[in-house]
Amino acid sequence: MSLEGMNAVVTGAASGIGRACAVRLAQDGADVAILDINSDGLEGTRRLIEETGNRCLPVTVDLLDRTAIRSAFDTVKEELGHVAILHNNAGGSLREGIRTFPKSDYDQWDYMLTLNLRQATDCTREVINEMIAAKYGRIINTSSEMAFRTNFGMTDYTTAKAGLLAFTRSLANEVGRYQVTANAVCPGVTRTPLAEAMPKAHMEQSLATIPLGRWAEPEEIAHAVSFFASPGASYVTGEYLLVAGGRTMH
Ligand SMILES: NC(=O)c1ccc[n+]([C@@H]2O[C@H](COP(=O)([O-])OP(=O)(O)OC[C@H]3O[C@@H](n4cnc5c(N)ncnc54)[C@H](O)[C@@H]3O)[C@@H](O)[C@H]2O)c1
Repeated sequence: MSLEGMNAVVTGAASGIGRACAVRLAQDGADVAILDINSDGLEGTRRLIEETGNRCLPVTVDLLDRTAIRSAFDTVKEELGHVAILHNNAGGSLREGIRTFPKSDYDQWDYMLTLNLRQATDCTREVINEMIAAKYGRIINTSSEMAFRTNFGMTDYTTAKAGLLAFTRSLANEVGRYQVTANAVCPGVTRTPLAEAMPKAHMEQSLATIPLGRWAEPEEIAHAVSFFASPGASYVTGEYLLVAGGRTMH
């Protein structure tokens, strides 16, 4: 089913998974606003989206800043109109120095929770009441397989990504009666700039634990997002889909 006539917003769309998802939603027929702090990356995504013949609105924004989020969504609504699909994808696990919780400080903790959880709730706040009024909406959140696993020195990230799943399910429960759905995609190790910046040894080791024996391509995550965004997924809400090559079986 086509997304023709609908507007989608994808955050963290300047590279990696967000770029692939934004392009896929445009291929599915949507006009797409792409939000990111990286303007150069947004330009690259814009070119790919415009090749589909659909409209693209790049908006440079620091999602750690609530006032900036509000103004970014004002721009989207002015330029494109009503938002039917929001994909909260921005996030990341990189930080200066891997520190376990006992060694972490408030700044690191706040940064990871804001980047991977709070800003997604702030973006959702900008569109949810209008989705309710329209009696139609699709919220899709990028969580992670790390919501179900542990990794030494990543307590902040796993906590945030598990929190994002809890937000997805509670929101789905609250807004379901208005035909607004909320679902999450949980990628495994995916070949993106984020993954490529991880220590090489850690990445190589991960292969041995993945039944499919390889990392995901961003387009494989986008396929799941496309499903959740589609009108056909109208009876699917409060769910998460692990796209992790079977790794969580271990
Ligand atoms: N790559 C993986 O292996 C993997 C696995 C599981 C989950 N994820 C999740 O997938 C999502 C996308 O990750 P990716 O691998 O494509 O990484 P990526 O680094 O390629 O993309 C993340 C994007 O978020 C943007 N961003 C970061 N901070 C921002 C801020 N303050 N304001 C606005 N934009 C900001 C970056 O500029 C970047 O374009 C993240 O939520 C990540 O946690 C990734």
